[in-house]
Amino acid sequence: MTRTSTHHRITVCTSCKHKGTDCRPGYELIQRLRLAIDMAGDTINDTFEISGIACMAGCDRPCTIAYHGTRKATYLFGDIDPDEDIADLVTFARQYADLDDGWCSSVDRPGKLRKTTLARVPAAITVMEDRQDVLQ
Ligand code: FES
Repeated sequence: MTRTSTHHRITVCTSCKHKGTDCRPGYELIQRLRLAIDMAGDTINDTFEISGIACMAGCDRPCTIAYHGTRKATYLFGDIDPDEDIADLVTFARQYADLDDGWCSSVDRPGKLRKTTLARVPAAITVMEDRQDVLQ
């Protein structure tokens, strides 16, 4: 496969809490995932920026994590545990970087990610209209 210059991003919810606790595992998830992606090095065919955001509307399924890429489908996963799921998240990053449109079936996703997908949103292809009339 030809490597493209696609930029990828992983967004982790920093507000998710496990029921009955005040813990916010999103911060730990970000740290562990950054380290694991760094350690994976060139086995992942592009870079991933990893950042946090407060709430992605999957609050009943903590932690939530999203994968995005330019011109690619976006995924939102729930029920992610920083103690158990880092290997699957890295495997999916490797897979996602290699998919031209980011689209894959649940059976193709690693481990828990087969069953914890909350959303798979097709890439938005928008066309910039010639809006010279607005500028004049
Ligand atoms: S608090 Fe994490 S998705 Fe809403």
